Amino acid sequence: MPSLDQALRAALDARRPLLDELHAQGTDCYRLFHGSQEGVPGLTIDRYGPQLLIQSFHQPLDVALLPRLSAQIDASLGTPLLMVYNDRSQGHSRIDRAAHQPEPAALAELVGHEWGLNYRVRGRHAGQDPLLFLDLRNARGWVKQHAAGKSVLNLFAYTCGVGLCASAGGASEVWNLDFAAGNLAVGKENAALNPQLPAMRFIQSDYFSAIRQLADLPIAHRRGHRLPSYERLEQRQFDLVFLDPPAWAKSAFGTVDLLRDYQSLLKPALLTTAEGGVLVCSNNLAKVDMGEWRDQVMRCASKLGRPVRDCQPIFPAADFPSRDGHAPLKTLILHL
Ligand SMILES: C[S@@+](CC[C@H](N)C(=O)[O-])C[C@H]1O[C@@H](n2cnc3c(N)ncnc32)[C@H](O)[C@@H]1O
Repeated sequence: MPSLDQALRAALDARRPLLDELHAQGTDCYRLFHGSQEGVPGLTIDRYGPQLLIQSFHQPLDVALLPRLSAQIDASLGTPLLMVYNDRSQGHSRIDRAAHQPEPAALAELVGHEWGLNYRVRGRHAGQDPLLFLDLRNARGWVKQHAAGKSVLNLFAYTCGVGLCASAGGASEVWNLDFAAGNLAVGKENAALNPQLPAMRFIQSDYFSAIRQLADLPIAHRRGHRLPSYERLEQRQFDLVFLDPPAWAKSAFGTVDLLRDYQSLLKPALLTTAEGGVLVCSNNLAKVDMGEWRDQVMRCASKLGRPVRDCQPIFPAADFPSRDGHAPLKTLILHL
């Protein structure tokens, strides 16, 4: 196995053309080192604008190595970055906040950029994830290019990056939906960081209760269990629907389960997409095979009487290299 220095050098060299392209398009948030594919499994190094985020997932990194890694990257990029190291090798990938104390400036409220838009950057916050999901960049770029004049529904919206791209791409209307107030607050913050964009709608709601009302389907409930109150929505369709669910989540209204039951998510989303419209859907579970998942998606659409006229994949960019061509994040553009 190459040393970490060598592996990082090779990763930085391989990214040179991509980084030039990204900088030219107004993007300074990207993965610099994707350890599982580049020689050090369990280690990732990302740039989020002014911040350098180093994360270990299998075992802690020797913190004595951090200054050298950081200096190597600063020299390669020609700009000094504020380093945050998060060890997430303990249970449930939780950040061990005692493992490393970053400089206060690195934990300040920072701003990164992607496709010319501004995003809040926080190396540490109440959750474990680093906010903007970098492997979805190409999908956001696709939305920005194809949203002009369209009504857009962004499901599982969190940072609302998809909504921002739709808005920047000239969408006629954008709705962002997420059930977590704290997550939607990040999306609202990102909207405020881009004041030039038209206003978007934010809906704090469970996916199943909202999408089933939009699709004019009954809201399922378990016998003997009263449903919590939920926001009332009228039935309607959107020209462009973006479905980016987490791998697994349970609520009073249903279970998000990308391995065993993608159909429960997909069906109402298909019905909420207008005739001639587009549904972009994703599946981020590594163990789900793209071919099998695509067949399942196509079958589900046909059975529902909403056959897919055209289906194209969107792959993560080259900062997420994949030796076997099977990146964990799979995204499909379905033209209905
Ligand atoms: C992987 S993130 C989606 C990332 C997002 N597309 C983005 O670009 O930032 C998953 C989101 O789904 C939300 N979520 C999980 N289960 C949900 C449910 N049943 N209804 C609504 N939102 C849900 C979580 O709050 C979280 O913000």
